[in-house]
Amino acid sequence: MAHRIGIIGGDGIGPEVLAEALKVIDAAGVAYEPVHYDLGGARYLATGEVLPDAVLAELATLDAILLGAVGTPEVPPGVLERGLLLKMRFALDLYVNHRPFLAPPSALNGGVDMIVIRENTEGSYAGEGGFLRKDTPHEIATQGSVNTRMGVERCVRYAFDLAQSRAARRVHLVHKTNVLTFAGDLWQRTFDIVAREYPDVTTGYDHVDAACIHFVQRPEKYDVIVTDNLFGDILTDLGGAIGGGIGRAASGNLNPARTGPSLFEPVHGSAPDIAGTGVADPRAAIISAAMMLEFLGETDAAARIHEVVRGSDDITGSTSDVGSRIAERV
Ligand code: IPM
Ligand code: MN
Repeated sequence: MAHRIGIIGGDGIGPEVLAEALKVIDAAGVAYEPVHYDLGGARYLATGEVLPDAVLAELATLDAILLGAVGTPEVPPGVLERGLLLKMRFALDLYVNHRPFLAPPSALNGGVDMIVIRENTEGSYAGEGGFLRKDTPHEIATQGSVNTRMGVERCVRYAFDLAQSRAARRVHLVHKTNVLTFAGDLWQRTFDIVAREYPDVTTGYDHVDAACIHFVQRPEKYDVIVTDNLFGDILTDLGGAIGGGIGRAASGNLNPARTGPSLFEPVHGSAPDIAGTGVADPRAAIISAAMMLEFLGETDAAARIHEVVRGSDDITGSTSDVGSRIAERV
């Protein structure tokens, strides 16, 4: 049966890179039924709607969702982030953000082959906090970090399962346990308890600031990294920079329990400054599509796309040239 896939092109370069990802899925011979959604900054500006409940309910019935990018300069910060992206992550319980990084050895380091597993529904993204005495000289703003044993454990467990399936079989916890002594303690204890169930997986721990140095100077020490939502957000932009550029950084927002669809998207944003110029690299969207196919059980097609993209350094040109040439090779 054809997979029913929600397509959210979004804004800026989002629709441009997604069109290339769909070209490549077609070339791989995977049957799917696209269900297109008009969501993002353009819809918000035209109608005031971000993610109507009826649309969210429909998205929940799909097999997977592929998203380009959302955001336009005219929309105030937070509206689309909280109202659309985070709403989908939370409502669809996409509790793992799986972000792979790959790059050959360079003058800087011995090569990158790591996956960051970012907790995706809690931490400082949870929206806990608020204002007191707003707009007065005594204004107070608090923004808490929510860490549940259940939320941390399911994410840590996913990281260990993943590590066990890889050659290096290594997991690092990245946090800031020396300062965040409550949240950090919960993460460290949970990590240690889960680790006992995986005696063949090697474990390590780095503070997030030190991890930033190691990402640049010796990323080869890392295999799987598990970390909280905000640290994971920041670390994965750095991962993009060392892993072949943000143009290749892909992500899967996963519901590993498969109680609903998972959502796949490039790590990059809508880049309004280059929209319409045809210079956006569609590889991050194409790799995201391959990750989606893998999650849907289309393992051969996914492996083929990954292999072609890995060997595509010689392909240059416009967004659609790059997409077409990758599609031809697939
Ligand atoms: C990402 C993005 C999002 C995040 C924003 C756009 C809400 O930066 O996917 O990394 O912070 O998670
Ligand atoms: Mn980010």
